[in-house]
This record gives sequence, structure tokens and C-alpha cells, in this order.
Amino acid sequence: MGQVRLDRLVSHLTGLSRKDASKFIKEGQVKVADETIFDPAFKVSDSQSVVIDDLETQVSDIYKKRYFMVNKPQGCICADKDRNLPVVVDLLQDELNLESLHCAGRLDLDTTGLLIVTDDGDLNHKITSPKKEISKTYLARTNLKIEESLIDRFAQGLKHPKEVKRYKSAHLEILEENLGKVTVSEGRYHEVKRLFELCGLEVIELKRIAIGKLNLDETLDEGEYRPLEESELQLLFA
Ligand code: URA
Repeated sequence: MGQVRLDRLVSHLTGLSRKDASKFIKEGQVKVADETIFDPAFKVSDSQSVVIDDLETQVSDIYKKRYFMVNKPQGCICADKDRNLPVVVDLLQDELNLESLHCAGRLDLDTTGLLIVTDDGDLNHKITSPKKEISKTYLARTNLKIEESLIDRFAQGLKHPKEVKRYKSAHLEILEENLGKVTVSEGRYHEVKRLFELCGLEVIELKRIAIGKLNLDETLDEGEYRPLEESELQLLFA
């Protein structure tokens, strides 16, 4: 990248317009290499770092895509904005330019667990498109005993009256009387809940524990997040 104007960098990092970024810089809110810079046209180089709101970012990292693993809690919604409910991206308060970050796919309001949040639209599409068949694995607690016969029914592919197409084959493992591990490859609307519903059971707790071969980091409490490692990104498609 070589050198780049400070107002351009600040605008990219914060989501501010170029004009507002200039104003922000003139107000003395931006440091480059530990020095407050007031000139929006100041040229910053790759090897330097920029500090905004006490957050330091290496210039060479600024145009890299960002990938986070979130342990979604109940009660927050996978949407960019909502009038009444907290949105998942609000959990990433320590990051800059939250507007450019989006959930890769949706979990229901009451579903917890693994969610990828990113500003990489291509990756988002790859994870969520049913055609790509990226597997998603859930732990489902049910109101009634899960009978062995459900394993075959899930595998055959069930048809829900509200859906035109049958669900593709899903894999069910019974872990406890009322606890099943379900792997689906499409990720359609309410898919796991509906599979159980079709067998006369209600899902009373649902947690996503894996996408592809990437498992939820169980050291993350609900509501916590961390950046994904490069090697973990590969696991999504392994
Ligand atoms: N299936 C569901 O029913 N709900 C989710 O949140 C995810 C998968």
C-alpha cells in the first residue's frame, strides 16, 4: 500500500465520511505513531500505527478483512439494526466501524452458540448459501424423550407443511434422553426446531456448536467473542 492519506484511513476505519473524518482529525482525536496529527492530508505509511479512541491499529492491517467468532447469547438478534432488541454486532463494542460487520447467517433469538461475524461478504455468502452445503451442528434439548426411530426419519429428509421443498438428510445422534446432536447441511429457517416438531417434539434449548469443522470455543462465555485465526477459517470449509 505504501503511503495513504490519514483522512482516508480514518474514514475506512470508523465508517465516517471523508468530511467527518477530516473534522475528527482536526479536533485532535487521532494519533499516528504516538503523536497527535491535526492534518487530514498527512501521509501515513504501512509500518506505522493509528490510534483512535485508545484503540491502536497497525496500518498494514487496516484493509484486511475481519473475522470474529461470537458465542451468541439468548435475546439478541442477528440483524444489522433493531428497534426493540439488542443486535449481535453490539457485542463487538471494542471494534471500530461496526456498521461494516455482519452476522454470517442467522440464529433464532433464543438460540445460543457459534456465530461468525465478518466484513467479508464473500465468506458470508459461502457460509450461508444452502447450495454450498456447509454443515452446521447443534445441541438440541427437547421436551420429550428422543426415540431411536427419529435417527432414520431425520436421515430420510422430512417435509414441513410450511416449506415447499423437503429438508435434506440430517444427522441425529442421541446423547441423552432429551438431548440430541443434529447436523444439517442447508441451514434453512427454523430447520432444527421444525425437524423435531415434525416428529412431535419441541426444542426447548438450542445451541450451535460447530460450522463445518470449526467448533465453538467453549472458553468464550455467552456474549463473548474473539478474532478467528487463519487456520480456523479453513476449518469452516474442511
Ligand atoms: N435451526 C433452528 O431451528 N433455529 C436456529 O436458530 C438454527 C437452526
